[in-house]
Amino acid sequence: MKLEEFLRLNAPEDLAALTAAVAKASLEVWGSIPFKTGLLEETNPSGEAQKAIDVYSNDVFVEALIATGHAAEVASEEMEEPVESKGGVSVAMDPLDGSSNVETNNPLGSIFGFYSDRLPASGRRLAGALYVTYGASLTLTFSFGKGVHRFVALREGAGTSFQLFGVGLKLPEKPEVYGFGGSRSEWIPAVARFWDSFDGRGLRNRYCGTFVGDYNQVLARGGIFSYPALVKRPKGKLRVLYECAPMAYINEQAGGYASDGSGNVLDIEPRALAETSPLYIGSAGLVHEIEKSISPT
Ligand code: F6P
Ligand code: MN
Repeated sequence: MKLEEFLRLNAPEDLAALTAAVAKASLEVWGSIPFKTGLLEETNPSGEAQKAIDVYSNDVFVEALIATGHAAEVASEEMEEPVESKGGVSVAMDPLDGSSNVETNNPLGSIFGFYSDRLPASGRRLAGALYVTYGASLTLTFSFGKGVHRFVALREGAGTSFQLFGVGLKLPEKPEVYGFGGSRSEWIPAVARFWDSFDGRGLRNRYCGTFVGDYNQVLARGGIFSYPALVKRPKGKLRVLYECAPMAYINEQAGGYASDGSGNVLDIEPRALAETSPLYIGSAGLVHEIEKSISPT
């Protein structure tokens, strides 16, 4: 089944239009990755160096989302202020996740949260979420609150279409992989201790350095991804609105759990657009375990 038909049957009109727009724009971003890899002189609101491809993908997605007429605003990791519009859905996005991996050709991604409230808003206000992988294949993985579904981009003659690749995706029962961002020496001690236990449980360490890529393998294999609390950065690195909550929403729809170390990531009420949080996400059992070992109360 093609994406357009699936959306017509399974999504409200606004989310269907926004998803179709992301799908089309993602092909444009993907095609441009080899050509736009020079560092710009600018920094984004979190103080990170911006690359030409970050700015380019931001602009491509903003334009595509606004053109649907369904976006109330588009907020992005790459912009200080949201772009306002007249629709009913607030979109928060990380237009190119893991862009420090451009030179090494590791997977990259894009993340979108579709919120039914003005931003910043809690993950409980998500009506849907979606992520794109630019890996060996370009895939779209999304949920509108009724399971997690995946489409893959396939070339057809001169064009490309998105074909159904998985319906009702669930995390496997038995967790197999783990991947943690940052360095062990920077993590809070409870996280480092928990990490040491993985070896003895038969889990394998798999880390590519792009949140979307690292989470995507957790969804396929079971396990846990974390960008944990650091001693010098207790609120971690990943942004609640653009990264943590949309992925937590998809993960929950796939039967998993995402914690900030003390509770459900979806319950965080961010006060600023770029607010960060520690993130522990993946198989419910493992994430509850690490949450308990970090905050034993
Ligand atoms: O968006 C931030 C990000 O690029 C994530 O994709 C990734 O998980 C993380 O940074 C990697 O950070 P580090 O290089 O500190 O492990
Ligand atoms: Mn990111």
